[in-house]
Amino acid sequence: VTLGLDLGTSGVKVVALNAQGQVVAHSTRTYPLLTPRAGWTEQRPQDWKDASLDALREIAGHLQVLGAVPLALGLSGQMHGAVFLDAQGDVIRPAPLWNDQRTAAQVERIERAVPRADLIARTGNRAVTGFQLPKILWLRDEEPAAFARLAHVLLPKDYLGYVLTGVMATEPSDASGVGALHLSRRAWDTEVLDALNLPAHLFPEVVKSSDVTGVLRADVAALTGLPTNLPVVAGGGDNAAAGIALGLSSARPDLGSVSLGTSGVLFAPLAQATPDPEGRVHLFAHADGGYHLLGVTLSCAGALQWLRDKVCPEVSFETLLAEAQQVPAEPGNPVFLPYLAGERSPHMDPDLRGAWLGLSLAHGRGHLSRALLEGTAFALADTYGVMRPLTQVTTFLATGGGARNDFWLGLVAGALGRHVERPAHEPGAADGAAILAMPAAGLYPDLTSAMQALRTVGTPVAPLQSVPAYHHHIAAFTQLYPRTTATAK
Ligand code: XUL
Repeated sequence: VTLGLDLGTSGVKVVALNAQGQVVAHSTRTYPLLTPRAGWTEQRPQDWKDASLDALREIAGHLQVLGAVPLALGLSGQMHGAVFLDAQGDVIRPAPLWNDQRTAAQVERIERAVPRADLIARTGNRAVTGFQLPKILWLRDEEPAAFARLAHVLLPKDYLGYVLTGVMATEPSDASGVGALHLSRRAWDTEVLDALNLPAHLFPEVVKSSDVTGVLRADVAALTGLPTNLPVVAGGGDNAAAGIALGLSSARPDLGSVSLGTSGVLFAPLAQATPDPEGRVHLFAHADGGYHLLGVTLSCAGALQWLRDKVCPEVSFETLLAEAQQVPAEPGNPVFLPYLAGERSPHMDPDLRGAWLGLSLAHGRGHLSRALLEGTAFALADTYGVMRPLTQVTTFLATGGGARNDFWLGLVAGALGRHVERPAHEPGAADGAAILAMPAAGLYPDLTSAMQALRTVGTPVAPLQSVPAYHHHIAAFTQLYPRTTATAK
């Protein structure tokens, strides 16, 4: 078997996959999210380390019982976070995460130092508050004593790789989320770094995603019960790794994915690096050697969760969804703008806010819920509108909690206007990390053959398209967008 470890935001998950891609054992551990100030999100790298070693120890125990031998371990994790290390490799402070919003001033500085079009042409992305690069500038601005000690900056899963092997390394799918990787060269962009007066030696070497970076340290092997010298594979950022697990390959750019999780995510593999000229969606390296576009809407299933938790805690999700479904699609229905947490794609504006509009005495909770679900679907469609000219996706595989509901997924399929399919099973980023480790384990000659052998099949989802109500809604939605920006600012 190969092991895959995904270092998520709420916890770590380890899976053991056999050569047929079946999960033979799994283990999870959680750790806290720190929010020391409004807009800040941090985690302690020590918590990641403790939880991961614990989960690895548990899985080693399971495998022993099963008589299965782990042949390699692949890594995946939340993207964009910054683990600050001193010259001894010790952690300097808690790591700010992908959803941390403290770096607005530093993003402005990057935009002044490198023209937006130039930065997008080089790195695939404009400067984004959540990315790692502005976090390093923030440390220099706000915690100069910490910055003076800074010798290395690692992404979350690469820090864990360092803990496990003693080797600092990264790979393109995660490194392209730093904001300073020259995408086509797959190397740190020294001109961007020079413009910001940052040395390239802060960053680790970039290897291929399925490359072995090192082997398990003897002390870690003893502590976990895993074999000494177990090869550790670089792996991928969580979105790229989840894409690998779903069989999304840059050699097959017609197949993408849509995820209805806390946030909504559209993933479209690409053979060539074609960024949106305005950077309204992300362009990252894929873990298979190609590229992928990533559109992230910040409130998807998270919006329904908000409605349930904060507005009507006495009502179940099932009831809210059933009430929404009973409301007919009519032109007079209210419209919901889902920007409860600001928005990434396509607006890239953390100050946006949510709203229901067009309420009347005739409307009740079902209308509010229906509008909310439609609003999350329209936000995805807005993002897809930016991606569409750049991709060849004809089919989206749907994942995430919200995708289990036929009505909601039908609304999304209708709004996207593409085939949407539910995969037979829903592998995650940890599975992708384990698949990325299969070539190193000798289970497949290369990643392409592993992905071909493990491809999932999907069942089509019926789109719900109630013209003309939808056209009315989409028009209202697009017109209303600038107004919520104005009220928020
Ligand atoms: C991607 C992103 C998130 C994190 C979450 O750009 O910020 O999907 O990777 O883990």
